[in-house]
Amino acid sequence: MALKDDVTAALAEVGDPAGKAGLIASGRATAIAVKDDGTAGLVLAVDGLDRVAAERLQAAVEVALRRVKGVTATRIILTADRGSAPAADAAPVAPTVPGIRKLIAVASGKGGVGKSTVAANVAVALARAGHAVGLLDADIYGPSVPTLLGIEGRAKLEGNRLQPAMAHGVRALSMGMMTDPRKAIVWRGPMAASALVQMVEQGDWGVLDVLIIDLPPGTGDIQLTMAQKLKPDGAIIVSTPQDLALIDARRAVAMFGEVGVKVLGVVENMSGYQCPHCGEASQPFGHGGAEAEALAMGVPFLGRVPLDIALRLASDAGRPGEGAQAAVFADMAARVAATVGL
Ligand SMILES: Nc1ncnc2c1ncn2[C@@H]1O[C@H](COP(=O)(O)OP(=O)(O)OP(=O)(O)O)[C@@H](O)[C@H]1O
Ligand SMILES: [Mg+2]
Repeated sequence: MALKDDVTAALAEVGDPAGKAGLIASGRATAIAVKDDGTAGLVLAVDGLDRVAAERLQAAVEVALRRVKGVTATRIILTADRGSAPAADAAPVAPTVPGIRKLIAVASGKGGVGKSTVAANVAVALARAGHAVGLLDADIYGPSVPTLLGIEGRAKLEGNRLQPAMAHGVRALSMGMMTDPRKAIVWRGPMAASALVQMVEQGDWGVLDVLIIDLPPGTGDIQLTMAQKLKPDGAIIVSTPQDLALIDARRAVAMFGEVGVKVLGVVENMSGYQCPHCGEASQPFGHGGAEAEALAMGVPFLGRVPLDIALRLASDAGRPGEGAQAAVFADMAARVAATVGL
């Protein structure tokens, strides 16, 4: 009985998107029940809310319930009167991870092509566009998100949940925040994959519009397990323009296709170089290869990021790119947001 009171109190604290009241006072949350095994259930009326608002509310309710001590699982039944409801095909779908509306993986076949740089900068761009964004560094062998976003120190554990760090408007978690950065980590494949799933599920992300997952390079066990267990809403494939990288990018696109994860598009990184001294443009890795490859594979092209010393310097200093680079990532972020329905 006490647990049901706690659940009701938690719901009363969640604001109704249509007004100032909490969900109990507004009458949106009804039929609250708590089973002996700790499953908390309720009916949530999403009348008058569009799909995005309904998904956000559902995520907020999930998070609020999971923070109640004693609640082990949740069951939220969404209802809407036909007249006032969003179209049936726009009804929110339950997220794979409670509280997280969309999951996007950033992957590549080949290492060192700039996945982490793209993941961090797109995450910052999405946050600047007003979305609640998380970034998970899934590269447990070579974590780079702490460096890219300038995060120092270890992640705190509260209750049983890892607390992401807030950096440049993004909530970030990385294995680099859990271990001594100077020590190499030795994980076997299956352990590594389950560590990643745990970081997603046990991170105290709060309510996120989107969680970006920066994957380690390749198309092995970790990537497959992630795709199958977490069922991301889409994947961004990063490649450099030369053939060697493109062959691996093709493999990554094929892998996501096999497990039913939508490829949101291909990014061409290190695309062309303009000499900061003489201004001459050169193409160390070629140019346009990734766009042509995307076209050939029938997946969208998300844009090109030039090879730019300023971006490397900013990244090493823990800052996102600025100026023209930031504009490129903002454009990419806008396309991605539109495709997954943020
Ligand atoms: N467009 C760019 N211009 C200049 N430097 C870049 C660019 N993109 C990435 N870099 C630099 O290249 C290096 C590799 O980038 P990054 O770590 O993002 O690649 P990655 O694909 O995540 O690597 P890994 O496969 O090891 O995870 C970094 O030093 C980064 O700062
Ligand atoms: Mg990386």
